Amino acid sequence: MTDVAARLQELRDRGLYRRLRLVDGPQGPRVELGGREVLLLCSNNYLGLADHPQVRAAAAEAAVRWGAGAGASRLISGNMEPHRQLESRLAEFKGYEAALLFGSGYLANTGIVPALAGAGEVVFSDALNHASIVDGCRLSRAETFVYRHRDLEHLEWGLRQAGERGALIATDGVFSMDGDVAPLAELLELARRHGCRLMVDEAHATGTVGRGGRGSVAAAGLSGEVDVVVGTLGKALGSYGAFVCASAETVDFLVNSARPFIFSTAPPPPSVAAAATALELVSAERVERLQANAAGFRRALAAEGLDVDRSSTQIVPIEVGEAEPTMALCEQLLERGVFAQGIRPPTVPEGSSRLRFTVMATHQAGELEAAAKLVGAAARERGLAAASPAFAA
Ligand SMILES: Cc1ncc(COP(=O)(O)O)c(C=O)c1O
Repeated sequence: MTDVAARLQELRDRGLYRRLRLVDGPQGPRVELGGREVLLLCSNNYLGLADHPQVRAAAAEAAVRWGAGAGASRLISGNMEPHRQLESRLAEFKGYEAALLFGSGYLANTGIVPALAGAGEVVFSDALNHASIVDGCRLSRAETFVYRHRDLEHLEWGLRQAGERGALIATDGVFSMDGDVAPLAELLELARRHGCRLMVDEAHATGTVGRGGRGSVAAAGLSGEVDVVVGTLGKALGSYGAFVCASAETVDFLVNSARPFIFSTAPPPPSVAAAATALELVSAERVERLQANAAGFRRALAAEGLDVDRSSTQIVPIEVGEAEPTMALCEQLLERGVFAQGIRPPTVPEGSSRLRFTVMATHQAGELEAAAKLVGAAARERGLAAASPAFAA
């Protein structure tokens, strides 16, 4: 039997113990935490839609009209008009024949990967893919070849070894903890050449990159060509849930085989309606504001002597290394009014603990610049940044 107390102590000893923080109020650019207002720099509410009045109103109206919950899985009695409507809008938005909602991104990935790869086959997974893809690979009972992050030669070597057994290449579009983008055109070319499907998880790309926020697949000009595109409703779309876009035939197959779709209650109508309204509010202007804020924040951090080269998006990690100093830096910044949660293993590889900053379209440029200065000062105190800021040189 697991000794729970001993396991908890071990986590504390390794600096890996996690505790919940309580945020008071909606996910705005500033939130109350422990009775103090802080600048929120670790929410995935990238476009400020989780707290948008129209999105909130849509959820409230749907609760009144359709009820708080769907009552059953989609294949029993839980399939309602809001589900059908949102699926059709998401398919159109992403440039696909069909879409299918899932309860969450975690459920989508743990359902889709096992549906598309099984025992005797091989799944190819980027080393920095999200845990939900990793768990999907585990559940699939396929052999998993983990290729080095964005390393096409390593992937191709794996594809050659697998031969006919290769089934699926799975990658984040925008990597969740690093903020860089997968080489999608090259991945698709490899998938085609080796007879595999390509699945791209756009959890952090939907609403943030590509024309009008259509995502990394659209930005690469590959809408409708990448076989399977996953997105979430819980990040830029400000709600909760997820979706997959694919051919009508693939979606039909997922309805008949993805276990988290079949055996879990349909997404609640208020969440679905909120996401549908949020999708209407994803405008080129909002996305450009997010991208301009992200670029400004990256520039301001670089001017403080911090290495932000890895990221080209709204996710900006500052790598510290070990878990304990990462959490110490996190607490120090919190005291100074900046909230960016420390990220530790197993979320990121051992020795690469970091602060993961995320920018929102609703931040003011000035508050991001001020935050970057605070981060630079705290990092210098800890020897994590160049001794003198670049702009002072
Ligand atoms: C790349 C990626 N995929 C999937 C998920 C899971 O999505 P959800 O929060 O909807 O379960 C996340 C969430 O953090 C993610 O970063």
